[in-house]
Amino acid sequence: MPEEANAILVAGLPEEAARIASALRAAGPYPVWLAEEDFPPEAIGCLVAYRPPPGLLARLPRLRLVHGTGAGVDALLADPDLPPVPLGRVVAPELSRMMVHHVLAALLRHLRRGETYAAQQRERLWLRHPPRDVEAFRVVVLGTGALGGAVLQALSALGIPAAGWNRRSGPLAEALAGAMAAVVLLPATPATRGILGRRELAALADDALVIAAGRGGQVDEEALLAELDAGRLSAALDVFNEEPLPPASPFWTHPRCVVTPHIAAAPDPAAVARCVLESMARIARGEPPLFPVDRARGY
Ligand SMILES: NC(=O)c1ccc[n+]([C@@H]2O[C@H](COP(=O)([O-])OP(=O)(O)OC[C@H]3O[C@@H](n4cnc5c(N)ncnc54)[C@H](OP(=O)(O)O)[C@@H]3O)[C@@H](O)[C@H]2O)c1
Repeated sequence: MPEEANAILVAGLPEEAARIASALRAAGPYPVWLAEEDFPPEAIGCLVAYRPPPGLLARLPRLRLVHGTGAGVDALLADPDLPPVPLGRVVAPELSRMMVHHVLAALLRHLRRGETYAAQQRERLWLRHPPRDVEAFRVVVLGTGALGGAVLQALSALGIPAAGWNRRSGPLAEALAGAMAAVVLLPATPATRGILGRRELAALADDALVIAAGRGGQVDEEALLAELDAGRLSAALDVFNEEPLPPASPFWTHPRCVVTPHIAAAPDPAAVARCVLESMARIARGEPPLFPVDRARGY
């Protein structure tokens, strides 16, 4: 990057942005600014953000790289002021590990009938049920990228039968037929919106678990709620059509649903810094970022 436009601007939730800025300062040679500071716009060569505040991108005339703070860059792509510069995202073992832990926590609880025993404990009920047959506990992971691939590996190590599903796979409803869990780890694109709809949910086994950890809008919430109300399926939902989840949402109190506030894999400052700094070095050499986003694909 030319010397006069080699500074990095970090935008985001104040504490998170400050931690990312510290990691960038500790690991790299570039000046680092926070969006709420009085930064010099013409010195900024790289913006690091999840969802930039409206109008921020339009104030940065010399950007050469825009970089996400996580794996998904849908909010950056949706910004009307996004310039036609390379776009990078985070792929890192820290992020994959966090997502693996999130997914396994929900899956293993279901496999071991955690919901049933938690309800029994509230009633002081000592009642044993036959364990679920792990061989028949088939999991389908929607998305076989950095995160879905890591989940598939972890499941294989635990002896839990699992299959991945991506753009080269056949119809989703067929892949899900009789499965005991669907784990949604897809990017938010027009093609993945509502991808787990009424027909796909109906294909799952009666007692199956739906884990939504990609982005809101990928699971048809109305269709899922109808299934939960009918006493079929359970859900572990981390992402929603509307975030924060409105207080009136029936998911908050549904006995067949666990709600988490979009925390499956939070940005890891050291991992963000590593990807951003390596990408800046590559951009300076005229190469693409370390983990480039394909704008035409949308992820
Ligand atoms: N809840 C959280 O805290 C959290 C944290 C981090 C990330 N996420 C979400 O997780 C997503 C996945 O991250 P990643 O790093 O694993 O992404 P990735 O490496 O880009 O992998 C994306 C996967 O999705 C598949 N895919 C994309 N569009 C599809 C379609 N229309 N039909 C079928 N498969 C499709 C891709 O298929 P191909 O292999 O065929 O290309 C690929 O396997 C992110 O985009 C983000 O939205 C959520």
